[in-house]
Amino acid sequence: MHAFSSDVDPAKSLPAGSPDHYTAFVGPPDQYDFMGATQFRLLCALGLREDHALLDFGCGSLRAGRLFIPYLKRSRYFGIDPNKWLIDEAVKNEIGESIVKIKECSFDFNSDFDCSVFRTKFDYIIAQSIFSHAGKGQVRKALASFRENLKEDGIIAATFVLTSDQEVEHGSDEWVYPGCVYYQESSIAEFAEESLLYCAKIPWYHPRQSWFLFSCDIKNLPDSETASTYLQGTILKNQPAA
Ligand SMILES: C[S@@+](CC[C@H](N)C(=O)[O-])C[C@H]1O[C@@H](n2cnc3c(N)ncnc32)[C@H](O)[C@@H]1O
Repeated sequence: MHAFSSDVDPAKSLPAGSPDHYTAFVGPPDQYDFMGATQFRLLCALGLREDHALLDFGCGSLRAGRLFIPYLKRSRYFGIDPNKWLIDEAVKNEIGESIVKIKECSFDFNSDFDCSVFRTKFDYIIAQSIFSHAGKGQVRKALASFRENLKEDGIIAATFVLTSDQEVEHGSDEWVYPGCVYYQESSIAEFAEESLLYCAKIPWYHPRQSWFLFSCDIKNLPDSETASTYLQGTILKNQPAA
């Protein structure tokens, strides 16, 4: 029987967060495919079309970017990540330079949570597994910048690791990696309010975290009944282990 090279890929057994491989640095390497696909499916379920402008905040090794880039029209994909090597490795090994050129993708490498660098207002902003590592001040800074650079009818989709225990909530303002930080739902609601954003928790499937949507206007967000009908992200088979 033919053995595909991925069957024996030693990178797949590296721990999540390992700096030794671009697929491992961003999470469990054997979920590199799934964690990209679920982000793509979520934004499509939320209404992402080819002519929308998307900011992939903390885009890492283009886990999701490698699906968004072919889908979107030219000049619609924007990525920010201070670890430029992740983007370089993904371009080299996953998508190739030609599509980055054809699609006129834009990247920035700032670590200041500054989304104004592209001088673009976004229809969608995705921040998957970013606030699971960010201190409170960093979350506030990012959300304020998202708000400033989001269209009035735009939607932000972001993940958090939830806790119900105030004691466990992240107190410092440091970036924690590859470990995770925890926030109470009430703190997330406060972050939103401080940034003049409305916020809704959605049930979209994630093996370890919870998805939240934010928008400038509450009418852009689904109520809980709509979210539970359209935004489950349920997986029929081959669901990854938590
Ligand atoms: C767990 S990974 C998630 C990557 C990507 N969102 C995904 O789902 O594949 C966290 C990412 O945050 C990036 N990061 C670290 N500090 C950052 C900052 N200040 N601003 C934006 N991204 C940052 C890391 O380089 C890494 O790519």
